[in-house]
Amino acid sequence: MSRKGIIFDLDGVIVDTAGFHYLAWKHLANDLGFDFTEKQNEAFKGVSRVKSLELLLEIGKKTATQEEKDQWLKSKNDEYLSYIDNMSHDDILPGVAKVLDYLKENKVPIALGSASKNAVPILKRVKLHKIFDATVDGNDVSKAKPNPEVFVIGAKELGIDAADTIVFEDSIAGIQAANIAGMISVGIGDAKVLQEADYNFNDFTEIDIQFLDKLLNS
Ligand code: BG6
Ligand code: MG
Repeated sequence: MSRKGIIFDLDGVIVDTAGFHYLAWKHLANDLGFDFTEKQNEAFKGVSRVKSLELLLEIGKKTATQEEKDQWLKSKNDEYLSYIDNMSHDDILPGVAKVLDYLKENKVPIALGSASKNAVPILKRVKLHKIFDATVDGNDVSKAKPNPEVFVIGAKELGIDAADTIVFEDSIAGIQAANIAGMISVGIGDAKVLQEADYNFNDFTEIDIQFLDKLLNS
């Protein structure tokens, strides 16, 4: 049995920021004259900011100059930052702290693997910036999920083989990235949406110590 490590996505897994991303994109879409639904938003989860704008413009059938795109990327991010400004330790999603505490107590290596360029400020806001053994975010990667780059770097920094790496993800793109890398994928959210995951839970309150032990010791 080899040593296992765990990589956590951030948005929608550790903190409830997925809704903030959605709101900010929806406002931009509405300003540009079209609607953007929660269902459409599923394809945006785990996807980089630049790629998300491309997807949004496709939905609205809009073409834009680079200058306009830069301006919209900035306005979306400014709105998003205004939401995360109000976050605190209380905004860690239910059940997450208990799992993190258990992993730390048992010296299981843990990493953050997020597409977000805002990951570190968010971790600081919720006071989780010191607990990860490695933090890989949107500033460290050039290829967005479903490319597994972010998780491959995370596992490497933890010194864990891909096959021994467990990934917690709320996005289709992130589950695909973990699967492509040959890692064990755990979907957090609707099992119908995240059907490619090896395991599914609605949220961390459903994850118990027995399940973690099974994953870590198999
Ligand atoms: C991912 C989110 O974690 O980060 C996406 O799921 C988001 O919705 C992406 O677009 C990039 O985030 P940011 O904070 O760099 O705009
Ligand atoms: Mg996510």
